[in-house]
Amino acid sequence: MKLWGGRFEGGISEKMDRFNASLPFDINLLEYDIEGSLAHVKMLGREGIISESEAEKIILGLKELKAELLEELEKDKLDLSQAEDIHSLVEMRLTEKIGAVAGKLHTGRSRNDQVALDMRLYLRDQTADIKALIKAFMKVLLELAGEHTETVMPGYTHLQRAQALTFGHHLLAYYFKLKRDYERFEDAEKRINVSPLGSGALAGSSFKLDREFTAKELGFARACENSLDGVSDRDFVLEFLAVASNLMLHLSRLSEEIILWNAAEFSFIELADQYTTGSSIMPQKKNPDLAELVRGKSGRVIGSLNQLMITIKGLPLAYNKDLQEDKEGLFDSVATVKLILELYPEMLKTMKVNKEKMKKAAETGFLNATELADYLAAEGIPFRKAHQIVGKAVLFAAEKDKELEQLNLEDWQSLFSGIIEVDQKKLKEILAVEAAVNSHATKGGPAFKETKRVIAEERSFFDD
Ligand code: ARG
Repeated sequence: MKLWGGRFEGGISEKMDRFNASLPFDINLLEYDIEGSLAHVKMLGREGIISESEAEKIILGLKELKAELLEELEKDKLDLSQAEDIHSLVEMRLTEKIGAVAGKLHTGRSRNDQVALDMRLYLRDQTADIKALIKAFMKVLLELAGEHTETVMPGYTHLQRAQALTFGHHLLAYYFKLKRDYERFEDAEKRINVSPLGSGALAGSSFKLDREFTAKELGFARACENSLDGVSDRDFVLEFLAVASNLMLHLSRLSEEIILWNAAEFSFIELADQYTTGSSIMPQKKNPDLAELVRGKSGRVIGSLNQLMITIKGLPLAYNKDLQEDKEGLFDSVATVKLILELYPEMLKTMKVNKEKMKKAAETGFLNATELADYLAAEGIPFRKAHQIVGKAVLFAAEKDKELEQLNLEDWQSLFSGIIEVDQKKLKEILAVEAAVNSHATKGGPAFKETKRVIAEERSFFDD
């Protein structure tokens, strides 16, 4: 059945029919479509646009239909070629169920405001789910960071060992990235949560629709202020995809690190068997596929954002069929993000952390060189000069295949001659890796105490 056809003499070609159809994917909107229809018909009855008894019949029919369709869907019995889109399916099946009165449901409404409404209801639910998943993920990161506030590891710039920090401090960096993603989803919700219902095809309606009533009934903050905007706006989808892309970028960067840390060259962590896979030819291998797929799938979500931006960029107002292309990429992104958010924390919780390897790596490669330069600077030597002296010390130690803390009194005396008196006890103190980390006690720094303070403070984020 088609929702149109009065002015057509010939039928639509079969291929065109398939090309045009969106039911195979907008079936995802089933519950939202019915929810929106229920609010609309309730309003039509209240306003006397249709009679109360007609409204009641339609409401009852819609409720029964919802259960039937969900059951068919679950049992894989729903034929997705029977209608053009979800809106046509519901109306067709409602007509079969309650007869001609079903035709009154669409009074004062267009599929244009209907689809915009469905998308907002859908995305509002998905955003809430995703926020809850991010929060649970953040909790895992915070707990893990709490277990590793004293697990010293190298910090990197240019993927070169730079300065020592802790694994807890490193994990906290991701915690805060995810916290911002959470906040961005929360902010996006404000713009999702506006009702376009009653915008009609583009120019509102000649019926006295109570748009504030339907908005309230559906839990929206308000009804949109311009009907043309209401039906043509897909910013809320773009914004969602942009926020999701940013989240995926963060998870992709974390994945890259997980992959590195899990490699024999680092051996900082060992991923659990459940979240790795084997090789069909090399029996010794345990591949970090989950992390790799997350890194790979970030391209997919970013791709959906790009696709929709390109789809929308040249569209005149208001509705154009191009807008039907707002769905598949979004649905795919939502499913991808949700699955990843469920799996990832499990991988983190089950990985083994090799503290010794991390510490050893932090103790090799002159990560304490800055500490030494800071010490000399604190003793009054201009930092530039101190930098130069330490540079020489590093070269000297490297040539002897030693770390700075392994240099002896004689070595120091020759390096510091005419500059400062050698205080071996002090040198030993500042060059120890834990001391180096703990001396970085600036707000947000890696010092054990500071990381613990931040973690304790962040716990309140989870008080509900
Ligand atoms: N399936 C369409 C979509 O997803 C529904 C809106 C159709 N509106 C129209 N005027 N043809 O965008």
